[in-house]
Amino acid sequence: MRENLDWHAARAALEWQIELGATDCIGDAPSDSFALPAEAPWKTRARPAPPRRAEKPAPTEAPPAAVATDPTVDPVAVARATAAAATDLDTLRATMAAFEHCELKKGARNLVFCDGQPAARVMIVGEAPGRDEDRQGKPFVGRAGQLLDRMFAAIDMGRDAPDPARALYITNMLPWRPPQNRDPSAQELAMMRPFIERHIALADPQVLVLMGRISTGALLETREGITRLRGQWRTLMDRPCLPMLHPAYLLRTPAAKRHAWSDLLSLQARMRELP
Ligand code: URA
Repeated sequence: MRENLDWHAARAALEWQIELGATDCIGDAPSDSFALPAEAPWKTRARPAPPRRAEKPAPTEAPPAAVATDPTVDPVAVARATAAAATDLDTLRATMAAFEHCELKKGARNLVFCDGQPAARVMIVGEAPGRDEDRQGKPFVGRAGQLLDRMFAAIDMGRDAPDPARALYITNMLPWRPPQNRDPSAQELAMMRPFIERHIALADPQVLVLMGRISTGALLETREGITRLRGQWRTLMDRPCLPMLHPAYLLRTPAAKRHAWSDLLSLQARMRELP
């Protein structure tokens, strides 16, 4: 085990061990759990000395900061400047991989940039990678992603379709997995927003689908709930955009699938109208 691991690297290493099936910690020195103590504790008269009060309260572990805390650096400004300098998708991916101000990067295994066809007429923007996406480096490959594929296959669209009219291009608001799949913080979303905006501008889809409440709330800058917004066409970056219920929500709430179906039909009709 490396000794100079920081908090995030140590945590990622521990999570990795747990995912591999580790259930116990093994120390460097062997210990015999069955060995009897030299003297049975109930025979010992002397009371153990009370623990000495620490002079200072024991340092509590600082929660991971969402932003690298160099006060002279404005991460949003850095994101804006570097995203703007990217003139194609490969450069944007490399620029994001080199961005050091979002702490999520340190706990993630992979940068999850995109999947599907960059030439697709429809671009889907989800929330953030989960465990499977983090492992594979691709968005929407876990259970929710499989449902997403089935949903779009029902209107004859898919990420592997070679024809741009039937293809999908898929990305997320955040390219790194938040720990324990927690919701992205407002700070993380603000910091990464220049990248997703640049991503949309460079891919230049005809239509955007905002998958779920996080991407809808962040990109449309609204606090209105997704159950009200879903299915309502809006405009984002000069193109039509459709908020939809997230497939992870549909997995938990199967009765809502009828709304998703109605939204898919609305998307299909809109795509037929567009040149
Ligand atoms: N949920 C998302 O929003 N994005 C993914 O890539 C996976 C699950």
